Amino acid sequence: MGPEPKGLTPGYSLGLLHISPNSAGNLNDHRGHRRFITQPLDSLVSLGRRVRVQRIGEWEAMSRGFALITGASSGIGAAFARKLARMGHGVILVARRRDRLETLAGELGKQFGVDTEVVAADLANPTDLETVEQLVRQHPNLEYLVNNAGFGTGGRFPKVALTRNLDMLRVHCEAAVRLCHAAIPDMIAAKHGAIINVSSVAGLLRVPGSAMYCSTKTFLNAFSESLSMELRNTGVKVQALCPGFTYTEFHDTPDLADTFNRSDIPSFLWLSADRVVDMSFRGLKRNQVICITGLRYKILIAILRIPWMRPLIRRASRRRQQG
Ligand SMILES: NC(=O)c1ccc[n+]([C@@H]2O[C@H](COP(=O)([O-])OP(=O)(O)OC[C@H]3O[C@@H](n4cnc5c(N)ncnc54)[C@H](OP(=O)(O)O)[C@@H]3O)[C@@H](O)[C@H]2O)c1
Repeated sequence: MGPEPKGLTPGYSLGLLHISPNSAGNLNDHRGHRRFITQPLDSLVSLGRRVRVQRIGEWEAMSRGFALITGASSGIGAAFARKLARMGHGVILVARRRDRLETLAGELGKQFGVDTEVVAADLANPTDLETVEQLVRQHPNLEYLVNNAGFGTGGRFPKVALTRNLDMLRVHCEAAVRLCHAAIPDMIAAKHGAIINVSSVAGLLRVPGSAMYCSTKTFLNAFSESLSMELRNTGVKVQALCPGFTYTEFHDTPDLADTFNRSDIPSFLWLSADRVVDMSFRGLKRNQVICITGLRYKILIAILRIPWMRPLIRRASRRRQQG
């Protein structure tokens, strides 16, 4: 059994509104005079805030269904699995490295007392993907779907093997599309659920040497935004999580190890996987669809998206590839 759902704060309810004891506010100013002009406005604003917070609380407290996380064997996916298990959700862990998944499942079961399931699957393999898709379609109580599995490649598009480029298309895009298609009908029927598609800030940029990575992540952003519009008022939330540089195994894979040097990136731009996951949940609470991890990345992306920054990005990437 997972922990008790978070309860409502003590107070009284008016239909959808839950008013906590101090919600009437103090009608007098510090001299004891009634604040006729500002008070109604303040009250409205604070009531609006409280209604939003209350609705968030209700959404979170609705159930403790399962969470399926792809790419759960390391990095951001493993951090999502830990967070969701801590919240009391049973977890279904998907990736290729079965040993890693089993170790994590054992830890989470022991530490949080949640149900765990391990599915060793290569999402670039159509048969494996079909198996995971069927599992999602038939699962009776899936509350979270985290499409997180992914990888990067180093070098310009024609230099990367076509099979590897197509693998990326399958793992980032096809897997997310199939699993969303399988999960959404039951989430709509339950009037509750959340889909987190782990994209990247690269999906908001155009960078030479990352043609497939930028475009597959751009797809995830557009897909998530359109889906979230379709699913408005259904109780199903969709987020495209756009992390910046995150300490994981991502840059150590054979695809990137030779071309990427962590020390080329200023230390203030690096995030931990746990921090990224916390920001994702904060964004989900606020119904943020495109969730960029932190103010520094929001500012950086806004600057890099200015059209006259493109030649600078091109030049910087050329220098990096020559260096
Ligand atoms: N780290 C960053 O700086 C960063 C920044 C922005 C976005 N992201 C995104 O965050 C997500 C997670 O990456 P990470 O940083 O946590 O890197 P990571 O530690 O390398 O984790 C990647 C995960 O994806 C799984 N995976 C890769 N290919 C797969 C396949 N064909 N089938 C099934 N699972 C596969 C890996 O598991 P197996 O190897 O066991 O299969 C692993 O669990 C990715 O979508 C990535 O694009 C990362």
